[in-house]
Amino acid sequence: MEDFQVLILAAGKGKRMKSKLPKVLHKICGKEMINILIDKVKKAGFKKIVCVLGFKNEEVKKVLDKNIKIVIQNPQEGTAHAVLQSLPFLKKQHILILYGDHPLIKKETLKKIAQFHKRTNADLTLLITELESPNQYGRIIRDCEGRIRKIKEFLDLRGSERKIKETNPGVMCFKKEVLEDNIKKIRRNKKKGEFYLTEIVEILYLKRAKIREVKSIYPEEEGLGVNTFQDLIRAEKILRREILESFLKKGVKIFSPELTLIDLDVKIGRDTVIYPFTVIERNVKIGKNCIIGPFSHIREGTIIKDNTEVGNFAELKNTFVDSFTKIKHFCYLGDSQIGKKVNIGAGTVTANFDGIKKHKTTIGDGAFIGCDTILIAPVKVGKNAKTGAGTVIPKNKDVEPNSVVIGVPAKKLIKK
Ligand code: UD1
Ligand code: MG
Repeated sequence: MEDFQVLILAAGKGKRMKSKLPKVLHKICGKEMINILIDKVKKAGFKKIVCVLGFKNEEVKKVLDKNIKIVIQNPQEGTAHAVLQSLPFLKKQHILILYGDHPLIKKETLKKIAQFHKRTNADLTLLITELESPNQYGRIIRDCEGRIRKIKEFLDLRGSERKIKETNPGVMCFKKEVLEDNIKKIRRNKKKGEFYLTEIVEILYLKRAKIREVKSIYPEEEGLGVNTFQDLIRAEKILRREILESFLKKGVKIFSPELTLIDLDVKIGRDTVIYPFTVIERNVKIGKNCIIGPFSHIREGTIIKDNTEVGNFAELKNTFVDSFTKIKHFCYLGDSQIGKKVNIGAGTVTANFDGIKKHKTTIGDGAFIGCDTILIAPVKVGKNAKTGAGTVIPKNKDVEPNSVVIGVPAKKLIKK
């Protein structure tokens, strides 16, 4: 993959999404579409990535890795125009072009098409997705000998051409000089007034250039271009299912996969049980042998160690929970550090937000937090300390280890 550069086209506004957010920033399973694609590109072994941004590019730039080269396309005059802007930054021998709105492309496919392209010494290699419902995608038009002749955009299709099931998912490998020499020859499409990258196929065909193809073995996923909100939901459904299947394979017991939401970038250990109606967000780690749910909401930044129980209506955000701790009934723990073998009573709330800033709550090993305790952060509860039911611990009034506090505000209970 050393002699490849990957060019991702992501400058479009995504008009059909009817949203103020640039299309590639819409999240699927908790992660921006563009970053899902970039992860695949990296996992496939490509090192050099160039991204063409345009609409609200400052916002998109913020979520991208710093080592991605950014090219700005303004105004956005079509996919060929996007490629033209990036020409001065393309240095490698081969260029793999991808559309930012195809997040379900597989890393294996990216590897395969790049290797095939090199092995066959092709000028252009296209990925082809054969779809049951080819919708509004560009179609592959073949000549009488079955060779790829052109890609025709949906708006330009005539009569029976709409029945063609072979579509273009926008995965194209070019020899760099072939791309450079021919992209400039593309003319503005009369109907839409844009420069279509897909026009390059016919230009090369007429020159008898070497056009090769790879057929997608996952067409429904790889062929899915996210143009509308319905497409986004379709992609979300497919990816959610993949995520859940992969956890089931790893020995995580998810009893109702259809009633459980798990984002990308989540780790869960073996023998952990997830009961229905649980939502686990991106960047969460859960250890082995835990019981989570039903109705738990585990939010970003939370780490739960082995043998822990989190039950009904428990919401955890950016919280570390050490092993053998029990958080079994309705509560909110935010920006907290919870030790080993702690018991969090029903109705416990960390008041982590003072209206301006978030603050931390620390609870030591073996502590017993009574029902309905409110901990106003920043605050610490020492090891093996206990709080009575309904206790309110004011901020900075740390509870000493091994002590018992009760009341509002909390006072130390001294046994006579
Ligand atoms: C495109 C293809 C179509 C293909 C389909 C697959 C063209 C002309 N058509 O259509 O053959 O079947 O994708 O989903 O290429 N972009 C830019 N700059 C622009 C315009 C678009 O960077 O000026 C980016 C978009 O952000 C997007 C990608 O290119 O990520 C594709 O553009 P989009 O408008 O979604 O093209 P489609 O109509 O879906
Ligand atoms: Mg599209």
